[in-house]
Amino acid sequence: MIVALPLLIAFGTRVALKPEEINLLSCEEKKYSTEILSIDPLIIYINDFIFDKEIDYLMKLGKRVSVYKAFKKLFDNDQVRTVDKPYRSSSSAFLPYEDPVCQCIGKRALDFLGFVEHKAHERLQLVRYYPGQEYNLHSDWLYNPKVSRSPGDEGQEYNRLGSFFTYIGGNSTGGETYFPFVNGASLTADPTKYAISSNGQGLLVKPVKGSALFWMNLHPNNGTGNDKTFHSGLPVHSGVKYGMNLWTKHYKSTPILGPYESKEDRKFEPEEAHV
Ligand SMILES: *[C@@H]1O[C@H](CO)[C@@H](O)[C@H](O)[C@H]1NC(C)=O
Ligand SMILES: *[C@@H]1O[C@H](CO)[C@@H](O)[C@H](O)[C@H]1NC(C)=O
Repeated sequence: MIVALPLLIAFGTRVALKPEEINLLSCEEKKYSTEILSIDPLIIYINDFIFDKEIDYLMKLGKRVSVYKAFKKLFDNDQVRTVDKPYRSSSSAFLPYEDPVCQCIGKRALDFLGFVEHKAHERLQLVRYYPGQEYNLHSDWLYNPKVSRSPGDEGQEYNRLGSFFTYIGGNSTGGETYFPFVNGASLTADPTKYAISSNGQGLLVKPVKGSALFWMNLHPNNGTGNDKTFHSGLPVHSGVKYGMNLWTKHYKSTPILGPYESKEDRKFEPEEAHV
């Protein structure tokens, strides 16, 4: 099976695939539902964004790929703007770009973006929070554009357009994602998904396994970072919290919103569109 090849390359060594892992290679369509939490910035809650079997696979992948044996403390991204330092006590692990399951989830995220620029995404990144660990107030968008090192767009400058933060499990209390500059949930909102902050300000989203939070980091009119997207991963009180980051790319030369050039994405011919 030809799709199995990148997996073997990604692992570096030959590994025996379990039947459920081979099933995953077919990139099954995932049904999910959504609700809008904020319009500026655009924040959307995605119920059931990822299969449990994909989560199990990603967790194993994070440990199995030799160079990513362990979660590491990452302080490598000085460009992420933060309010306090040291800003992150959680740990992260990047997953191989070529892995077919990562590619499948990446495609799901890009498809979600519809008419918004959706050509590419960064490598998926797993994050882990132990009790007391947190990620202080920061933005996902970068102060200066980053130069891609990914296959396909190497050398191109980009900023992080969309963030998908998927909760992939654990048993934590605490560990909410907190947007202090965004209006909070209504008092009648589902308490399994949302919390109300003690001062009543800001949006607090609880970690629920399999669900994701999407938001747009950049102003769609000029591509600059939206300060209202500053957010933090609040401290975990007990248990462990696992999450996965996926950031989509905005290339400076491409409009964020508007006609998307790819033929596959065209639903009709331009002439008809002008009728
Ligand atoms: C970009 O657009 C946003 C939203 O309209 C605006 O607040 C911001 O000042 C603009 N930034 C620049 C550099 O033009
Ligand atoms: C949470 O799960 C971890 C293992 O995944 C376990 O060691 C820990 O005791 C659990 N904590 C709670 C509060 O259930």
